[in-house]
Amino acid sequence: MRKNMVAGNWKMNTTLPEAQALISEIVHMVQDETTGSPAVEVVVCPPFPFLLPVGKLLQGGQFHLGAQNCHQKASGAFTGEVSAAMLQSVGCEYVILGHSERRQYFREDDELLSQKLKAALAAGLKPIFCVGETLETREQGDTFKHLEKQLKDGLFHLSNEEFDQVTVAYEPIWAIGTGKTATSQQAQEVHAFIREQIARAYDAKAALNTSILYGGSCNAQNARELFSQPDVDGGLIGGAALKSRDFTDIIKSF
Ligand code: 13P
Repeated sequence: MRKNMVAGNWKMNTTLPEAQALISEIVHMVQDETTGSPAVEVVVCPPFPFLLPVGKLLQGGQFHLGAQNCHQKASGAFTGEVSAAMLQSVGCEYVILGHSERRQYFREDDELLSQKLKAALAAGLKPIFCVGETLETREQGDTFKHLEKQLKDGLFHLSNEEFDQVTVAYEPIWAIGTGKTATSQQAQEVHAFIREQIARAYDAKAALNTSILYGGSCNAQNARELFSQPDVDGGLIGGAALKSRDFTDIIKSF
């Protein structure tokens, strides 16, 4: 179901005490400052070891727990890996899949991501599936072609029922951690394109019901303008999710 959403991807940051302090501050600030504001689902995605302790501090309501990755197999001899069922058992509702850092540094391709999506859905997790182009691809005028392929090969193999559980995140790689945000027009243009692709692959209802988040140097200053675009349903936040004041302000930007 389409909803306003702000998800914080903490990446490989924080120690346990830092993680606990950060989430406590965020929960208290949001509770103190957002009475009567429109409903926004907040998803917090800390590193694996902190899922359980951070989850305990979320206090339900609009706060939900997510992970940053999962393995494609259900269980077995895969030293160092974490399964979707493990994540579900510690309270995760969401899992980020297809992040450009996973694609780039860990060689995750569309085939592997398809398997991870299936594994996540089988364990009852809701995937936040990331797509996005490099600066080179954008400058060559191939952004839409690239996104079309990522969506088709990575995501659109899912059944209608499975796809219902998916949130899409558009994260232009040139905007991640660089301070260069896509303009609200650039974001809107791509989000509308993604929605159109969903309508083609599934139907108009699926397209209307899918939340599409923007990610890439989204911060407390630019969130309001980005989130006001008709096809931008919220944000997937990196750096600014590690600062309680900034993350709370982003949540308040709807
Ligand atoms: P930044 O907000 O730090 O650019 O990171 C975005 C991101 O990668 C979220 O997944």
